[in-house]
Amino acid sequence: MIKVGIIGSGSMGSGIAQVAATAGHEVLLYDNNPDALQRAETHLKKIMARLVEKGRLKSTEAEQILSRIKYVDSVYAYGDSGLIIEAIVENLDVKRGVFEQLEDIVPEDCILATNTSSLSIAAIAAACKKPERVLGIHFFNPAPLMKLVEIIPAIQTNQNYLDHAAELIRSWQKLVVIAKDTPGFIVNRVARPFYGESLRILEEGLADVPTIDWALKEMGGFRMGPFTLMDYIGNDVNYTVTETVFKAFYYDPRYKPAFTQKRLSEAGYLGRKSGRGYYDYREGAKNPVPNEDATLGQTIVDRVVTMLINEAADALYLNVASRDDIDTAMTKGVNYPKGLLKWADEIGIATCVERMDDLHQEYLEDRYRCSPLLRKMARAGKTFYE
Ligand SMILES: NC(=O)c1ccc[n+]([C@@H]2O[C@H](COP(=O)([O-])OP(=O)(O)OC[C@H]3O[C@@H](n4cnc5c(N)ncnc54)[C@H](O)[C@@H]3O)[C@@H](O)[C@H]2O)c1
Repeated sequence: MIKVGIIGSGSMGSGIAQVAATAGHEVLLYDNNPDALQRAETHLKKIMARLVEKGRLKSTEAEQILSRIKYVDSVYAYGDSGLIIEAIVENLDVKRGVFEQLEDIVPEDCILATNTSSLSIAAIAAACKKPERVLGIHFFNPAPLMKLVEIIPAIQTNQNYLDHAAELIRSWQKLVVIAKDTPGFIVNRVARPFYGESLRILEEGLADVPTIDWALKEMGGFRMGPFTLMDYIGNDVNYTVTETVFKAFYYDPRYKPAFTQKRLSEAGYLGRKSGRGYYDYREGAKNPVPNEDATLGQTIVDRVVTMLINEAADALYLNVASRDDIDTAMTKGVNYPKGLLKWADEIGIATCVERMDDLHQEYLEDRYRCSPLLRKMARAGKTFYE
């Protein structure tokens, strides 16, 4: 079994180390901040102890998993690794520097992967002399619990490295989807309207925060309402992703961030972690209750779900991923109640087109343009599935 080297021992790096060690690999974990490395070790020991306590692992298994993870103080320890996964700070120059340095240390056929959420894989690969072995392996947070992994070949990536990486990650009991090297890959692109359209509905005064959350959770079947979810993710983190995707799409209005979110982030109302976000989490705080009006709720659900479907259809149209991978990504990566393309069939493609056109006519904004794929399918009477 190949040795796996992980760089960056923060939330993602330590989670990926746990996954690889649980799958039986010897794992080397490095972080340029010794305190972060120490924290990762303490954290992983705690997690393993908890799994034993809950009866999910035998104590001997937990010990074996922990003994497979070595905490190293330099990337020079990676000389005999078969796969490197980089999970350091989200900064292109810093990542490129790390990849450039790694190439001189690791074996010729070692796969070099980045866990980046938003940077171009091609730009990272271009830092290497052998870019054909570089690709994106994008885990979701928390890595041990989330089944989905997006694998992203750069235009330089060789098919053999892609196949090998996909096979390996599948053997870690993960569901692999393949995404094109485009901003946000699948999940972080297709999910944008869940937040963006909900924020727009809020800003227009159509409904308030608890009502939008109630509608999408109780009537739409989503596990969490968008504002509750943004408060979980952190409004700073979610805003940054939105802004990055917006810029990366050359300011396509479909991905335009909302002032509401920016102001919350600027004010330090980051969500649960700061005690206040869209909701107030401080002790004794009273939060407003939803207006459980079924007609209003349905209007909210229809608008947000249609925008999500439009985004998913456009991702398919532009060959970002296959139909099945797009639906799998959204149900397994962000726990949507059903695949969006399947949902489109249920609603009816013609109805989706009609709803998009109504929005477009009302607002005269490019944000509400209907995907050409939906329009073509409606014209031909086609569905995504048989
Ligand atoms: N947090 C998420 O939900 C999430 C999900 C998917 C992907 N990602 C991506 O994973 C990567 C890591 O994110 P995270 O949330 O784990 O961040 P984090 O801040 O928790 O951890 C990053 C770690 O990298 C270390 N580091 C920074 N520069 C380094 C260098 N040059 N060499 C070695 N170590 C270095 C830091 O000390 C820190 O411990 C980012 O690219 C992020 O976009 C994050």
